Amino acid sequence: MAQGSWYDADIDHVIISEEQIREKIAELAKEVSADYASAPEGLLLVCVLKGAVMFVADFARALGRHGPPVELEFMALSSYGQAATSSGVVRIRKDLDREIAGRHVIVVEDIVDSGLTLSWLLRYLESREAASVEVVALFRKPDAIQVAVPVKYVGFDIPSEFVVGYGLDFAERYRELPYVGVLKPEVYARS
Ligand code: IMP
Repeated sequence: MAQGSWYDADIDHVIISEEQIREKIAELAKEVSADYASAPEGLLLVCVLKGAVMFVADFARALGRHGPPVELEFMALSSYGQAATSSGVVRIRKDLDREIAGRHVIVVEDIVDSGLTLSWLLRYLESREAASVEVVALFRKPDAIQVAVPVKYVGFDIPSEFVVGYGLDFAERYRELPYVGVLKPEVYARS
């Protein structure tokens, strides 16, 4: 087999490299550690499946170097289609396993696009009486500014094009790419 992985042939260009991701996560973890230094009870990271799994795994380990103790929770959400999404209607496919009342929560998101799902999630978590709720998103697209979602920690602002890798998929594929890139147009044509 030729050099590289099978998926390299499908990638038109890389937007964010593996090294850039690693450095950015270390920076974000440093910032979050400093902000929560006076929270000895620690942080509850709420990961939204599936796109944020790579990010939460690396982010939690980076926090583990200097930060507060962390616990992990996972949620899976789906919207009732485009029209329903705009009205903020989201279905919980997997809920939190524990109560979060009184906890400092950080929602760990892969990418904020329209921000509609996230704004619903923030309302939901607040209704469960968390002590505080913040968001860390590794990527943000310009559309995100259309809805008022307070994303305190942002890794990279990226252009409004469809990207894959580092957890982000196209038809469930490409999540395992260590970098983030844009697919070649023919990949869409053959699906
Ligand atoms: P929002 O509610 O429009 O902000 O939806 C955000 C979700 O859409 C993210 O959590 C991703 O799962 C997915 N998404 C948005 N943009 C992309 C992309 O460029 N590639 C892959 N998934 C994306």
